[in-house]
Amino acid sequence: MNASSPSPAQNQASTATLYGGVTNRRVTVRDLSGAKQRGEKWSMLTAYDALTAGVFDEAGTPVLLVGDSAGNCHLGYETTVPVTMDQIVMLAAAVVRGTKRAMIVADLPFGSYQESPAQAMHNAVRLMKEAGVGAVKLEGGERSARAIELLVEAGIPVMAHIGLTPQSVHALGGYPVQGRGDEAAHQLLRDAKAVQQAGAFAVVLEAVPAELAARVTEQLAVPTVGIGAGADTDAQVLVWTDMAGMTAGRVPKFVKQYADLRAVLGEAAREFAADVQSGTFPAPEHTFH
Ligand code: KIV
Repeated sequence: MNASSPSPAQNQASTATLYGGVTNRRVTVRDLSGAKQRGEKWSMLTAYDALTAGVFDEAGTPVLLVGDSAGNCHLGYETTVPVTMDQIVMLAAAVVRGTKRAMIVADLPFGSYQESPAQAMHNAVRLMKEAGVGAVKLEGGERSARAIELLVEAGIPVMAHIGLTPQSVHALGGYPVQGRGDEAAHQLLRDAKAVQQAGAFAVVLEAVPAELAARVTEQLAVPTVGIGAGADTDAQVLVWTDMAGMTAGRVPKFVKQYADLRAVLGEAAREFAADVQSGTFPAPEHTFH
């Protein structure tokens, strides 16, 4: 098999639905483009380890993001800023190993691409070669267009991320909604068009008014992936620990919790401790003789 004769699975039409469609190969950028043309909405979740990623893969989630949200959701930092390339490479490799079908996208963390397009290339190549991801994501609109262009020219699929860009938390003074007011809305549209023009295959829109996200989605040919961007984007992404109720304390307004895993796990740990203290664990059926 050479580059001019793709396998039958690779050739399978990107017209198959993302949910319950092609299951014998990974989801590709062509599948996501086909979904936009059909008007099929899809979901993306973050994942930071093989076990959890495997659960989402089996559930049919077509795209998993090894986000630098690993910083605050998995590694115990306050923000995404301290996350390093080595950490993302290690987490992304685990997510790739734990999955068979999902497209795996990994974040380029803060400081790994802002210096120059050449730096972006070096680190994106690390993620493709060392972790085996199918695509990378980076933050920024017009300011990141040249880096996106270079990666795409080299054959690296790039997901862009505009609106609220958490790596800029210190410059933004927190996590405020973006794109409010005429000038900010026009800048968001310019950013969206710039990253599409640079070759991004999808664009994350974070914390922007729903009406503006709907306008961007209508004007772009590539899919938009919303988080706190209303119901009219082509896809929706949530941080898995928020979605499944693992996060301690308050979650942002845009999160819907689909489970209460923190309570379930805490209760399991308490019951285990009580059984150990009372001597009811291990029982005869857990014991070798
Ligand atoms: O790092 C992350 O999890 C993200 C999503 C919130 C889009 O960038």
